[in-house]
Amino acid sequence: MIGKLNHVAIVVPDLAAGAAVYRDTLGADVSEPMDLPDHGVTTVFVNLPNTKIELLHPLGEGSTIAKFLANNPSGGMHHVCYEVEDIIAARDKLKADGMRVLGDGEPKIGAHGKPVLFLHPKDFCGTLVEIEEV
Ligand code: CO
Repeated sequence: MIGKLNHVAIVVPDLAAGAAVYRDTLGADVSEPMDLPDHGVTTVFVNLPNTKIELLHPLGEGSTIAKFLANNPSGGMHHVCYEVEDIIAARDKLKADGMRVLGDGEPKIGAHGKPVLFLHPKDFCGTLVEIEEV
């Protein structure tokens, strides 16, 4: 069902410092910071040959990742995102298998303008999983 790894998201306490590590030390192609107010994050995209890394920093009050950063002050891996062809079919299969889909179970438009859902970490080896229809 899942296809390519679309991205790995990493929450960072300092976006400029995180971007500098990937750009200057690791030599990656790194975007300028982009505010995504609908998602409560500012993000830097790190474009790798086979996938992306997204550096995330909380934006505004009540950002969903503010608590994560409070619990992980040095930052840390937040989620992995896998591509699916049909997000409704994927959701229905996951639910039929007893997996927990977060929120109201309806896909939301994600950071790339495509429908996404998040899946409960306890059902996926302790890792928050995002699925994105591509
Ligand atoms: Co994501």
